[in-house]
Amino acid sequence: MKKLAAVILAAGQGTRMKSGLAKVLHPLLGKPLIKYSIETARSLKAEMTVVVIGVQAERVKKELEKDEVLFALQRERLGTGHAVMAAMPALKGFKGDVAVFYGDCPLLRPETIKDLISAHRRKRAAMSLLTAVLDDCGGYGRIVRDEKGEVRAIVEHKDCTADQRLIHEMNPGVYVFEDGFLRKSLRGLTNNNKQGEYYLTDLLAMAVESGQKVASSTVKDAEEIMGVNDRMDLAAAAGVMRLRVIADLAKKGVTFECPETTHVEPGVTIGPDTVIEPGARLSGRTVIGPNCVIQMNSRIEDCVIGRGVTVKSGSALEQSKVGDGVQIGPMAHLRPGSVIGPDARIGNFVETKKAVIGKGSKLSHLTYCGDAEVGSEVNVGCGFITCNYDGVNKHKTIIGDGVFIGSDTQAVAPVKIGDGAYIGSGSTVTRDVPADSLVMTRPPTTVKEGWAAKKRAARKKKKGNKKR
Ligand code: UD1
Ligand code: CA
Repeated sequence: MKKLAAVILAAGQGTRMKSGLAKVLHPLLGKPLIKYSIETARSLKAEMTVVVIGVQAERVKKELEKDEVLFALQRERLGTGHAVMAAMPALKGFKGDVAVFYGDCPLLRPETIKDLISAHRRKRAAMSLLTAVLDDCGGYGRIVRDEKGEVRAIVEHKDCTADQRLIHEMNPGVYVFEDGFLRKSLRGLTNNNKQGEYYLTDLLAMAVESGQKVASSTVKDAEEIMGVNDRMDLAAAAGVMRLRVIADLAKKGVTFECPETTHVEPGVTIGPDTVIEPGARLSGRTVIGPNCVIQMNSRIEDCVIGRGVTVKSGSALEQSKVGDGVQIGPMAHLRPGSVIGPDARIGNFVETKKAVIGKGSKLSHLTYCGDAEVGSEVNVGCGFITCNYDGVNKHKTIIGDGVFIGSDTQAVAPVKIGDGAYIGSGSTVTRDVPADSLVMTRPPTTVKEGWAAKKRAARKKKKGNKKR
């Protein structure tokens, strides 16, 4: 089997993005654009991947530090041919085929490049290129074929004759080269054209002139070759990618009520018979089990969610774990480190952070529970607060199994409440509570019968005296 190397061109500025951030670092569905090309190289099983960087080289390098890629610095941007020249030292000693594609073309499927590689190898070509047929080829390079249908040249839009501009077949910028041909012809490349650039596309004419074989394959789904040049392209590409991810999950049995308004990132997995309502945003490494309902406008980030969970509308879940059968929200906030046990309930306006909640426990309304361990079958009334912060340090609250916490209570941490204890409403607990005890810290209720009536009567009399 012949070896494959990948060269990804990513040195450009992306002027039309009008951004302080290099184009390839702009996120698309949670991942920088360039990552999609790196993943493509990985699925092609490329022996080595060389990323040609230039603009914000250090930032791009940093973003890719965990990927097994080599970097080639293109100091000046003198064209696509020049960019590949910059990659050649990194390919020193490599024998095999070299696939070249861009870092700003995230919708390109690995299978499409695989087809091109197959065509290239079948024909034993020196150079092969992908083409696409579009209604409007805009500013793209045009594919010129001879009467036999063989590709003869790629002509840049700016260098086209009026007739050539009418050609509907364009060059998306995806190539495969035989390494010997690539090395040799790059050495002969000049910048004698309208833009004074070293055109990678000129290599095609060089192959044809020297009588070497050229192969091509035409992409079936023209959507794939959509590059990102400006912010609207970015939005359009994200739209396509989002629907791809959703279609994939839908095939596995997930219902999406409104795919157009649902953001699901490529790393998310969802079990069958789960229903995702409009406006949900599911990101990172989120795993959602089967038979769940994720209601409108919920945001779930890097969470693991069990089976049969309902996340009611407007909830935000971050880096948390949620057990089977749990109900969350509406409008609950699980902050990082929340671990919610099976069948528990986290209700309206409840915020948890670094909190482990036991099986079947209920925090149903208006609560802050941070740096806490709550046992199983605990009932927390409305308006409970763990006072975990003394202005300098965070402290822990530990609540045992079967505890009942009345409404409007505070636990001033560090504090432990033993199993089965009762905390009366309106209490502020400032020291540890033994198991099975009752705590009440509010003053006793005083009732003075008839007091209000007397007061009203006295006021009325005073007014009457004034009038007279
Ligand atoms: C190139 C092709 C054109 C094709 C189009 C598809 C050439 C001469 N033309 O156009 O036929 O239709 O792509 O999009 O190749 N880059 C570098 N260094 C450079 C120049 C470019 O790394 O010096 C990178 C850019 O970051 C970008 C990619 O190469 O990712 C394409 O560059 P761009 O300037 O958009 O392509 P064109 O040369 O206009
Ligand atoms: Ca471009």
